[in-house]
Amino acid sequence: MDNNSLKKKLISKVDSAMLGRQRKPQVSIVFLFCLIFISGFLYRFLWMKPLGENPPLKLHISPQNKSISALEKEPQTPNTTQGTGTSYPTAAEQELQTLMKVIEWPAPPGPTEYNFSTSPLTTEFQLLFPRGAYYVGEYVEVLITARDHGGRPKAYGGDYFQAKLHSPTLKAGVTGSVTDHRNGTYTASFLLLWPGQVEISIILVHSSEAIAVLKDKRETRPDKVYFNGYFHGTGEVVECNLNPPARNVCEYHDAYTGESWFCIHPKQVPCSAYKGTATGGSREIHTPEEARLLDKSVKEKLISSKVKPFVVLSPAISVDSRANCSSGLPNPEPSGFYYQDIWYSRVCKNRAFPHPDNVTKCLTGKIMYMFGDSTTKQWFEFLLRFVPSLQRQDLHAQFPAPQLAVDMSNKFAIQWQMHEKPLLILYGDRQEVHYVATELERIGSNKEGLLVVINCMAHFVTFPVKVYVRRLQGIRDSVVRLMKRNPLAKVFIKSANTGYVYTHSSDWLSLQLDLVMRAMFSGLPVTILDTWQMTSCHYLPRDIHPGPVIVKNEVDLLLSFICPT
Ligand SMILES: *[C@@H]1O[C@H](CO)[C@@H](O)[C@H](O)[C@H]1NC(C)=O
Ligand SMILES: *[C@@H]1O[C@H](CO)[C@@H](O)[C@H](O)[C@H]1NC(C)=O
Ligand SMILES: *[C@@H]1O[C@H](CO)[C@@H](O)[C@H](O)[C@H]1NC(C)=O
Ligand SMILES: *[C@@H]1O[C@H](CO)[C@@H](O)[C@H](O)[C@H]1NC(C)=O
Ligand SMILES: *[C@@H]1O[C@H](CO)[C@@H](O)[C@H](O)[C@H]1NC(C)=O
Ligand SMILES: *[C@@H]1O[C@H](CO)[C@@H](O)[C@H](O)[C@H]1NC(C)=O
Repeated sequence: MDNNSLKKKLISKVDSAMLGRQRKPQVSIVFLFCLIFISGFLYRFLWMKPLGENPPLKLHISPQNKSISALEKEPQTPNTTQGTGTSYPTAAEQELQTLMKVIEWPAPPGPTEYNFSTSPLTTEFQLLFPRGAYYVGEYVEVLITARDHGGRPKAYGGDYFQAKLHSPTLKAGVTGSVTDHRNGTYTASFLLLWPGQVEISIILVHSSEAIAVLKDKRETRPDKVYFNGYFHGTGEVVECNLNPPARNVCEYHDAYTGESWFCIHPKQVPCSAYKGTATGGSREIHTPEEARLLDKSVKEKLISSKVKPFVVLSPAISVDSRANCSSGLPNPEPSGFYYQDIWYSRVCKNRAFPHPDNVTKCLTGKIMYMFGDSTTKQWFEFLLRFVPSLQRQDLHAQFPAPQLAVDMSNKFAIQWQMHEKPLLILYGDRQEVHYVATELERIGSNKEGLLVVINCMAHFVTFPVKVYVRRLQGIRDSVVRLMKRNPLAKVFIKSANTGYVYTHSSDWLSLQLDLVMRAMFSGLPVTILDTWQMTSCHYLPRDIHPGPVIVKNEVDLLLSFICPT
């Protein structure tokens, strides 16, 4: 039986159960059990399709030529690594080297003492080429001059700035792009996209000296964040991590993905008694001098300027020449802007879905699988709140277990599930978290209406880049196989959000992985949703879990690609 007819059967069964319940309230308990049974069944069906049920199909159509060739290249079967996970198949290793070049970042010429590091208090920017009038469609550029704590101009680059142009009263904003001239000066460039008074804000996220520390610790101290392992039959709590935290460890190796997880061997029980993991804590890994470079007094600080707000005028004519939204479209720079709190994509003609009816009309007949972290969980929860007919199915399993929501009247279902460790969460049972790559092999018959949303990023920022690359290689190769099995499937990759600013994390670390992710999925007929810019130019305070107005815009952008017209 194929996905759709099974789904229709199940949904019509549930429909009649619902109708019966309305007519005969006295048997509601029976129907409740019925509903639980059916939703459990639906859950299992959504969830448990055996591996390799669908033989790979030959690809006939694809929106772009490059996509076809990208899919025809058979992905590398994972070459399983042993023990420490440091051995790589050649192709994967080559890819890692290419990706490390993509994220190369200029380093200070040598060890630099705090007084000579870039200071947000002395660094400033000024307007380049001031003009009498500014029009929508033009670019405005500013020159950033980096200076150290003594006010001396810097002679080298590598500072990380985030720039935006915005109009607080119009609830409008756009991200600027910053070019590093590698001599202590930077140009930030902004596209003018709406008429009215605008202003420019630039944040020094980190000095180049602080970034040198972050980069070093990312690669050399993967133990800076650690995890607690719990076991059946003992109260002992041991340290766990992606790398062995000690000599005598239990290794939990996943044969399919080649990934491993290590816990210190508990004293009284065998490794097989392993129950689950929780966030342990973080270690102080910085010397006082390093800690000073990363102190909150110098990071993520607005830099000063004498540039006053200025007025942008409308152009004579404006035409909307954006294409309808479809997969494989590149994200231009900037990829969109807010105006009156609505995101206008520059990728394609995105739509607003102001009413629940607009959402249900779009999702009818579809199954959406979301794999990721709390930032896609926000999307799942948003849809549950926004669409009254969409109901959470109680699967008696706590976060981070898979969550299912079904809309019986409009016949669609959404499942969210967490990606596999490392997870900075209160507690995750080993039964409840799974590798995305493995889960992807279980879905995708050759039918319309299959939607897959993936995000995987924030929990990896404190680890060496190769850890993230290895995880994403597995996911990417599974996505390629899924799209060969089902060319009608729509796959979305959500980018990172800005504002991940807890212990040992940083927007610079997030940016690096975001660049890696974009490079690894480029050329595939998937859609990369640029939530990086959607979170970086909004007026709400920086937060990896953005407020409802941003989440609504993110979900509307996703829906625009699912229902472009
Ligand atoms: C895609 O294929 C069409 C027709 O075969 C061809 O005209 C076009 O140049 C191709 N585009 C690219 C980007 O290869
Ligand atoms: C897989 O890895 C092993 C051990 O590193 C290596 O000997 C072998 O050649 C690899 N196979 C492929 C196909 O890369
Ligand atoms: C750094 O600058 C401060 C204030 O200008 C000064 O008091 C201090 O001695 C300087 N430190 C070094 C090591 O030069
Ligand atoms: C820095 O480099 C830019 C671009 O090459 C150049 O235009 C500028 O004059 C240089 N500034 C300084 C202070 O060297
Ligand atoms: C978008 O799709 C609609 C409906 O399919 C079509 O009429 C229209 O021409 C398309 N617009 C563009 C710019 O491709
Ligand atoms: C949204 O749904 C409402 C209510 O059904 C409808 O009136 C409106 O035309 C829809 N808007 C869009 C943009 O689809």
